[in-house]
Order: sequence, then C-alpha cells, then structure tokens
Amino acid sequence: MKKRIAVLASGRGSNFQAVIEAIAAGTIPAMCVALITDNPKAYAIERAENAGVPVIVIDYASFPSKAEYEKALLAAMKKQKAHLFVLAGYMRILGRAVIHAFPEKIVNIHPALLPSFTGLHGQRQAVQYGVKVAGCTVHFVDENLDCGPIILQKCVPVLEDDDEDSLAERILVEEHKCFPEAIRLFCEDRLGIEGRIVRIR
Ligand code: GRF
Repeated sequence: MKKRIAVLASGRGSNFQAVIEAIAAGTIPAMCVALITDNPKAYAIERAENAGVPVIVIDYASFPSKAEYEKALLAAMKKQKAHLFVLAGYMRILGRAVIHAFPEKIVNIHPALLPSFTGLHGQRQAVQYGVKVAGCTVHFVDENLDCGPIILQKCVPVLEDDDEDSLAERILVEEHKCFPEAIRLFCEDRLGIEGRIVRIR
C-alpha cells in the first residue's frame, strides 16, 4: 500500500523537489498529500503547484504567538492522516506537542554529518572548523535539535578553497539522493528503531 507523506518546507524546496520526482518516478511508494509551509513566499509553493500537490500555508507572521501557530500547525498535520512528515528545509524548531503527536513519523535532513554542527549554517560551521569531510544526515526528529536516530548519511570532501557556498552546493547534490532514499526505506517499512540505532532491513 502506498504511504501518505506530507512535506513541511519554508523556502527554496529543492529537497522537496527531489522527493516529488522520486515519487513521480515510482522510486518512493508514496503519495505526497500536502506541502505545509509557514512562509507564504516560499518557492516550494510553486513546486507543489507544478506537481499538483495541495498547499497549506500557515503563515507564522499572522499568529500572535508561537503557541498559537503550533496549534494551527498541529491541527493541519493531524488532518493529513500522513504516515510520514518530511521536514525539507523547514526553518523552525517543532514544538513538543507536534513531536509527541507523531513519534518516529517525522524525518529531517540536516546539511552536516551529525552529531557535528547542529543548528543553523552547518556548512559554514564545517568550513570554519576546518574539517576535511562534510556531508548530510537524514534522521528521525525527536525532542532535541538535530539529535534523533540517524537513518542515512552521505559524505563529501571539503576542498582547500571551499567557502560556505561551494561546500553547500556539493552537499546539496548528496542531499537530493540521500533524502529520497531514506524516505523510500521508510515507505517500504524497512526501518527499525532500536533505541537510537536505526536498523535497515
Ligand atoms: C538544505 O540544506 C537542508 O539540508 C536544510 O535546509 C536546506 C533546504 O534546502 N535543512 P531546500 O529548501 O531543500 O532547497
């Protein structure tokens, strides 16, 4: 049976696009039931419209508080009856209520090899730290930022003359492979979580 997945994105949406394309190609056995965005100007909206994916805008700026925003977000997420929520460049930290409502049902992609360089600007942190290998991580979302059980990681070299942008570009190429692959494994029921270890069956 095809899984129902819903995507949360705040911006450019290139990872969202990679997921849409993998679904269209039949690589991921799923249907994308919604794009949910906190940003009415997100380019991801155009990508959703082009792919015929319903768009739900929950404009963060229109809510009096984060709590009110999260209430609306949670209600919208519940309506989707999704098996999986995919954070594809969703630029807010999800609140506890949302995380608790969907245990082991939310995945995120982070542009660094976790547990290094959590939070914003993972690629900049990697360049500034001077690591020789960088990459991306797909992980389940738990209460701690960029900390849940790791599903897949891909690495790339950091080159002598790299800056944040050139490294980000190289990592992004891998993100676009890694994220659809992790989502495919989830949708094929091939991921088992034992504590913080994800077993791929
Ligand atoms: C990616 O680098 C992703 O790892 C991070 O946010 C960025 C989103 O890019 N979480 P895009 O919107 O998917 O193009």
